[in-house]
Amino acid sequence: MSKTKQQNYRNAYHFSPQKNWMNDPNGMVYFKGEYHLFYQHHPFGTTWGPMHWGHAVSKDLVSWEELPIALAPDERGTIFSGSAVVDWNNSSGFFDEAPGLVAIFTHHHDAPSAQQVIQYQSLAYSKDEGRTWRKYEGNPVLRHDSYVDFRDPKVFWHEPSSQWVMIVACGQTVCLYRSSNLKEWVFASEFGEGIGSHDGVWECPDLFPLTTENNGIRWVMLVSIGDDPAYVEGSRTQYFIGDFDGTAFIPDERSKCDVRWLDYGRDNYAGVSWSDIPAPDGRRLFIGWMSNWKYANLTPTDGWRGAMTLVRELKLETLQGEVMVTQQPIREIEAYRHEVLSLRDIAVDEAAVRLAAVRLENFEILVRFDPASSLGLKVRAGLGQETLVGWDARLAEVYVDRSRSGQADFHKDFPGKHAAPLQTPASMLELRIFVDHSSVELFADRGQAVITDLIYPDPASTGITVFADDNRKIIESLHIYEVSSSGGQLK
Ligand code: FRU
Repeated sequence: MSKTKQQNYRNAYHFSPQKNWMNDPNGMVYFKGEYHLFYQHHPFGTTWGPMHWGHAVSKDLVSWEELPIALAPDERGTIFSGSAVVDWNNSSGFFDEAPGLVAIFTHHHDAPSAQQVIQYQSLAYSKDEGRTWRKYEGNPVLRHDSYVDFRDPKVFWHEPSSQWVMIVACGQTVCLYRSSNLKEWVFASEFGEGIGSHDGVWECPDLFPLTTENNGIRWVMLVSIGDDPAYVEGSRTQYFIGDFDGTAFIPDERSKCDVRWLDYGRDNYAGVSWSDIPAPDGRRLFIGWMSNWKYANLTPTDGWRGAMTLVRELKLETLQGEVMVTQQPIREIEAYRHEVLSLRDIAVDEAAVRLAAVRLENFEILVRFDPASSLGLKVRAGLGQETLVGWDARLAEVYVDRSRSGQADFHKDFPGKHAAPLQTPASMLELRIFVDHSSVELFADRGQAVITDLIYPDPASTGITVFADDNRKIIESLHIYEVSSSGGQLK
């Protein structure tokens, strides 16, 4: 029996390290033909512990090869979240002829009292494409004595002002700093007081430009907020849209008034974007940690714990005068799918008959139908288990209902239905649903509403069916693909 089969609930096409604990994605950067993914990792246990940076590389963002640990704790502390950049012009002075990678991360030092936790920002660099790393002897490069929570630096090169910019979480706000050499940082501005959700500590920010449909530039800020027992949703990620001039982020009117969530499921946290994607590609690529601090340490897996979302492309789209961030799975995933069923212009009851023969654990469903009435799918069904994914026309929302999805008794807030509002499309509605051994990701109407949820169904619960109020409702098209990748995780 393969290792994969022995490891319960292990996914077929979502990244997890071979063993032990993983949380936030870190230091994602593209360099010399490789996408790097680092991650918060406890290599000696399946619960959160002294943090290291684990490391994996990929040529296509789907198949990952796990490499040795990149950064381990040292006398300054454990290695919390952060980012990595290519230092093309050796502004740091770490490199000789060729450009190299610089990681900017938080050193976390436990002091005798929680009120004295010390978090400061440090550097490490690699001259061999990320295979080995040296910590900078001048660490830390940035400290702030009045914040207990001061972490998760995301650094990017701001071309218009020719400087490095760091966005870093400081308690319940984010702070921006600038630098010419990555080593010396000057405070630029602070953002967040009285704006957005403050239901938890602010963590893992990101700030990047996206092009609008009419070729304008808007800046998007991502801010994850930690779990607070008072809120059933647990940890989640909000975003703001605005402008950035190299010094301060100015939110637009909508961002000033409303909280905007990146994902309406419970399990997409601490996600940030890739650095140094080549201009001809130009995509803003994002990955999140597929869990929630409310129950992350309790999920029922053995030998491993923690997976990443699919890599997604973030875009801006204007809907009824309102600009929003959309998320779509990257096109590279399509190379890993094999068509199992393809139906067109078929009534719901007939489609259900055709689906009765299909049994899958890891797959994609692509369904298009008239949104005038409701339609849903049951996935990972069997043994009294089912996960519902669908469109509720009356409420104008899409949903994932994991109330009866399988093992769910490890936390009282795990079972439940999660819905995302969606403007009823004028023509057909397309739902794209990715299901793996322990996850569901729904992308509705070209990524305008997204729901990412963990599930823990029995391996024998492999049924799929479709349902609607009206059994004679016509489905315009329904495609089912088996999806699996080998790379790194299926050894
Ligand atoms: C977010 C987070 C970060 C921190 C890391 C520690 O999930 O709490 O703020 O750097 O995890 O593992």
